[in-house]
Amino acid sequence: MRHLIQTTDLSTDEIDKILSQANTHLQANTHLEEEPHHTLKGKMAVTIFFENSTRTLSSFEIALKRLGATVVRLDVSKSSTAKGESISDTAANLNAMKPHAIIIRHKNAGAGEHLAKYVSCPIINGGDGAHAHPTQALLDLLTIKNHFKTSLVGKKIAIIGDIKNSRVANSNIELLGRYGMEIILVAPPHFLPSTHLQTTADLKSVLGEVDVLMSLRTQTERHDTQTYGSLKDYAHHFCITKDMIKDKNIIILHPGPVHRNVDIEDEVLKDPRCKVLEQVTNGVAVRMAVMEHFLL
Ligand code: NCD
Repeated sequence: MRHLIQTTDLSTDEIDKILSQANTHLQANTHLEEEPHHTLKGKMAVTIFFENSTRTLSSFEIALKRLGATVVRLDVSKSSTAKGESISDTAANLNAMKPHAIIIRHKNAGAGEHLAKYVSCPIINGGDGAHAHPTQALLDLLTIKNHFKTSLVGKKIAIIGDIKNSRVANSNIELLGRYGMEIILVAPPHFLPSTHLQTTADLKSVLGEVDVLMSLRTQTERHDTQTYGSLKDYAHHFCITKDMIKDKNIIILHPGPVHRNVDIEDEVLKDPRCKVLEQVTNGVAVRMAVMEHFLL
């Protein structure tokens, strides 16, 4: 049984196929009820999100419904986990209802991999702690590829923000690196992981050489203690402003939720080079393709 826990679970060939299928879905540009190909009709998927989510949960559910699958959302606050049942027992019980896939988000790194031992259907990781968020990296890759329309080898991306605590950064470092992008990590020292990649705390110094800026939210929920002066101090150095990007030929990504005027300035969010909402649209298409890949 195959699972999608991290981006390395997929070969580059498989990813190319998933992205191409995602583009087919994007071109069809259909709404929920209009999708002509209900390829997942008769399939049932369970979503179980132990952490808050706006985009990822709805994106998976819309993707599945567009393909004709039935989606059952387990309301974690009302589930037996809240009554002390272990997550593996919850998984084994869900599995006994014979879903075709379980999509999980959890605050602990490794939660999806752990669950995979108790079920007989694919586990799709919707984000586990600071470890991995594979479908986010896939949708980011799609957004970058669709913009440049050429090979990404040698293109440069600056990933900016709380990289150490970010599953989005982790997954993107593997995936974008695999597609040949050069990655520069831009963060204050306390937000940097130990890494072989180029790092700097000076965002302005890399603006002249990069093609993509990927901003990340400060993951305050994962900090034991506050390790920075204030978000205002942080923003002073790391917020992407209009004044910084001027008329440079770059694109700006962010997985959301955006801390406005801390991660990205309001003006930049309105700029056509800012792809934040395109990422959300691409997310549904990528998740449709991912679910077809694992369920068909
Ligand atoms: C990210 C997440 O939850 O990992 N958001 C998302 O999935 N779109 C990033 C974040 O919470 O900062």
